Amino acid sequence: MIEKFKGKTALITGGMGFIGSNLAIKLAELGAKVTILDAMIPDYGGNVFNVTESEKIRINFCDIRDPSAVDWLVRGQDYVFHLAGQVCHLMSLSNPFPDIEMNITGTAIVMEALRKHNPNAIVVYTGTRGQYGSVVSMPVNEEAPTNPKGIYEISNLTAEKIIKVYNDVHGIRSCSLRLSNIYGPRSQMMHSRFGVANWFIRLAMDDDTMQLFGDGSILRDFCYVDDCVDAILRVATTPECYGEIFNVGSDIPVSFRELCDAIVKVAKSGRWQFAEFSPERKAQEPGDFYSDISKIERFTGWRPHTTLEDGIAKTIEYYAKHRDHYWTKPEKTLPADKEKVTATKR
Ligand SMILES: NC(=O)c1ccc[n+]([C@@H]2O[C@H](COP(=O)([O-])OP(=O)(O)OC[C@H]3O[C@@H](n4cnc5c(N)ncnc54)[C@H](O)[C@@H]3O)[C@@H](O)[C@H]2O)c1
Repeated sequence: MIEKFKGKTALITGGMGFIGSNLAIKLAELGAKVTILDAMIPDYGGNVFNVTESEKIRINFCDIRDPSAVDWLVRGQDYVFHLAGQVCHLMSLSNPFPDIEMNITGTAIVMEALRKHNPNAIVVYTGTRGQYGSVVSMPVNEEAPTNPKGIYEISNLTAEKIIKVYNDVHGIRSCSLRLSNIYGPRSQMMHSRFGVANWFIRLAMDDDTMQLFGDGSILRDFCYVDDCVDAILRVATTPECYGEIFNVGSDIPVSFRELCDAIVKVAKSGRWQFAEFSPERKAQEPGDFYSDISKIERFTGWRPHTTLEDGIAKTIEYYAKHRDHYWTKPEKTLPADKEKVTATKR
């Protein structure tokens, strides 16, 4: 991998956020010159502590919806990792416009800038497993139907399709990923609206109580952020991947109850309790999901290598050292999160 990025240039939209900052740090380690574009939208995951500006990493605080800024920043980039966007599926229930403006218009602005100023760049986009919606059989492969349940998921699917059109029609090489639940260091820990695994880790570290919706049996495939970054880098550097879509997750299904038990065990603190879904969460909950990752494995050899326990332990280690940069205030709980408690377990 080192040879592939040494001396290369890379733009990361959303690079001050969770996945983008981990990607920026890895790319710099691999010898790339990284430019970050981030608007530091309040309540999203952007955090100035995530990345330190250096000779290898330049930071531009601007918005992907500003075509004149994006037109300049895409120039001369070998790679564009497009991670900026509206990230909260709950928010899209009450206000669909940030999704439309950031995920759809914003993506079109990035791709138009590339078409006009740098059509030779290679683009990687990070969409979501939510694009599939409720699934009928698992593990879910990339051929499964897409029935998004909300505007956030629709806007991610649309962004993916826009990028594919620029690949097919304008020859801008790209690939899109559908990420499962990613967790690990540098995620926001201020609120519970997105990033559930990280949120539960914070509660356990504070010896607080995790709210487990329903009976806790819903399945997910949690993927540690370093494995996710490895997947992003591999698809970017594998020409057979261009024009393709890949799931990135783990093919090991884990119930939320198992997740909570693992967190309590590793943290040696915290507890969980059952809680009723709020109507908003219930309406958007697609049910069980875990990814078939055989396609990305076939194309790139990628597999996640971090076990859930190891990933939780590394995450706790990071936040134990740097907690003050991620949470100092009491939780800002949304009304939608005030679910009724029905049972408790430590
Ligand atoms: N974390 C996950 O589990 C997960 C799962 C599926 C998909 N994704 C997708 O991966 C991408 C990165 O997610 P993340 O978890 O790192 O989120 P994050 O909130 O930590 O980072 C997103 C960053 O993008 C920036 N941003 C948002 N809108 C912007 C705009 N209009 N202009 C410039 N910057 C903007 C934010 O300020 C933030 O720093 C997102 O597109 C998200 O939808 C993440």
